[in-house]
Amino acid sequence: MLNWGTTPPGTSNEKQASRWVRQMFSDIAPKYDLLNHLLSFNIDRGWRKALLKRLRDVLAKPEARILDLCCGTGDVLLDLQKTAKSRVIGADFCHPMLVTAAEKAAARGFRAPLVEGDAMELPLADDSLDAISVAFGFRNLVNYGGALREFRRVLKPGGTLAILEFSHPPGVLMRTAYGLYSGVILPGVGGLISGSREAYRYLPESVGKFPTAEVLREMMTAAGFENAGFELLTGGIAALHSGVKN
Ligand SMILES: C[S@@+](CC[C@H](N)C(=O)[O-])C[C@H]1O[C@@H](n2cnc3c(N)ncnc32)[C@H](O)[C@@H]1O
Repeated sequence: MLNWGTTPPGTSNEKQASRWVRQMFSDIAPKYDLLNHLLSFNIDRGWRKALLKRLRDVLAKPEARILDLCCGTGDVLLDLQKTAKSRVIGADFCHPMLVTAAEKAAARGFRAPLVEGDAMELPLADDSLDAISVAFGFRNLVNYGGALREFRRVLKPGGTLAILEFSHPPGVLMRTAYGLYSGVILPGVGGLISGSREAYRYLPESVGKFPTAEVLREMMTAAGFENAGFELLTGGIAALHSGVKN
């Protein structure tokens, strides 16, 4: 489990992997929203709602401070801002994704506070956040254990971590159907529309290499999160993980 993180093709260390991921998201940023909703048949909207529901209590607190990490083009961030009485900020290390997030926020009359920074080394003080949400970003980090420890550092004691990520469907039928979809349709359609076949080959490959929900729960516990647990969504295609800093 030590040093487990994403390993994009042609990379042999964390620095190279991080650079590869940032460049890949920069390349697909202009088409990211279109492809995201198209390729997920909008099911991702329901998953994001589950994430918001998990953070309902903290969102109701005006004094709370929430970070939407790996916020990308801001879909979760904007939903959080719409719902929350708390202060919500977004962070991502990919500039073009943040530019789109800022444009979307402006179009909806929000001013999203956005930070350009790396999830592995957050520019935030210890014990400064009440909650962190990470939707479909965690899988792309170069060291899962290191990231969980970093998230724990910036959360206040009692603060909540919620990670929404693709997972591994336990049922044979769903696993087969999803395997076909992600092995054939995703690289085909995603590659064609985005112009980056490499990106849409990497994305399903990185899901295949990602820890199972049970293993991620163990990693969260090992990193110092209490009540680490998960809920499988849509037959296990995705999972919503959460835990509380002890
Ligand atoms: C699949 S997108 C998800 C975006 C958004 N959360 C959503 O649900 O649509 C993953 C995002 O994670 C960001 N990301 C990946 N590694 C990161 C890192 N080390 N630090 C900050 N952001 C990172 C990427 O730039 C990208 O915007």
